[in-house]
Amino acid sequence: MPTPDVPLVGIDHVHLVVGNARQSAFFYRNAFGFDVVGYMGLETQVRDTAGYVLRQGEITFVVTSPLTAEHPDNARLVAHGDSVRTIAFEVQSVPLAYEAAVARGAIGVVEPSVREDEHGSYAYAEIMAYGDVRYGFVDRTEYRGVFAPGFRPIEPGRYAPESFRPVGLRVIDHIVANVEQGQMEHWVRWHEQVLGFSLFASFDDKDISTEYSALMSRVVADGRRRIKLPINEPATGRRRSQIAEYLQFHHGPGVQHVAMATRDIVASVRAMRANDVSFLTVPPAYYDDLTARVGPIREDLGALRELGILVDRDEEGYLLQIFTKPVEDRPTLFFEIIQRRGAQSFGKGNFKALFEAIEREQARRGTL
Ligand code: FE2
Repeated sequence: MPTPDVPLVGIDHVHLVVGNARQSAFFYRNAFGFDVVGYMGLETQVRDTAGYVLRQGEITFVVTSPLTAEHPDNARLVAHGDSVRTIAFEVQSVPLAYEAAVARGAIGVVEPSVREDEHGSYAYAEIMAYGDVRYGFVDRTEYRGVFAPGFRPIEPGRYAPESFRPVGLRVIDHIVANVEQGQMEHWVRWHEQVLGFSLFASFDDKDISTEYSALMSRVVADGRRRIKLPINEPATGRRRSQIAEYLQFHHGPGVQHVAMATRDIVASVRAMRANDVSFLTVPPAYYDDLTARVGPIREDLGALRELGILVDRDEEGYLLQIFTKPVEDRPTLFFEIIQRRGAQSFGKGNFKALFEAIEREQARRGTL
């Protein structure tokens, strides 16, 4: 008997385990323009974990740090450094989603539970995904609090209001996994089988190889194409690929980048640059024949060139994108800022210029 689908409404939040949640919250607030809305820790009677809830548009990040030596997340920090622990999906029924996923082959790690406080009830469960990344299922329709039981609104006066400068990020566009060589197909099938996702796009090493390194990528998406999850694996190249570098420093598979969409990428990137976010840059020659390659675009070419924003076109329209450098000292997690003007693809036309930019960074790190 076929098990029921696991209908996912969307991405509820992304949970990162970090070495110092207080400082990460400050970074994502002051550099990336997130509002810090919630806190848990000793002052809220949570004895083993400190956490902050960050929000911008419809995007929610949670950063947590262990407060004790015995906390299981310490092992994660030793292995990965700061990294994404959980991608949590909003669902209509946590028990149904969890049971269906497990019946379809997922490994359950947190059984469905309902936690309650004076703001209502919050239902949650988790399954294992790739590496030790987890997928969470959340139902917060009966919850009115700031995020989840345990969290309280951030105390007024923690941050100066005038230092809160949102940069216009609205929604998560896609979240990318890096997995080991030979494992990409397995994880594509896993998403098809367990979550009922389907293949949305494919890139092989001919699309995205440079002189030195190569990777393969497949994008899986839910039925409504709201949740898009590219999965990368390294391909054999002349030198070590960026995916191999990630797998080494992350110590295994994990989330490579989270892409966040804006309606005005020029304004968003200008604000983030002013906040000292570091972006990958391509050589100025990229812009010389840009309009010949992508056709007419509405944005001012001078502004794109000044800010290092890339453009690509597909059958449905075009997109603008830029990538941050890794946000920790390990060359692991980074972010993409993207604006879609019709295009539903991922910037294939920029892969070569981008990967060459990453390779220049790898060469500086001695990891190419
Ligand atoms: Fe991306």
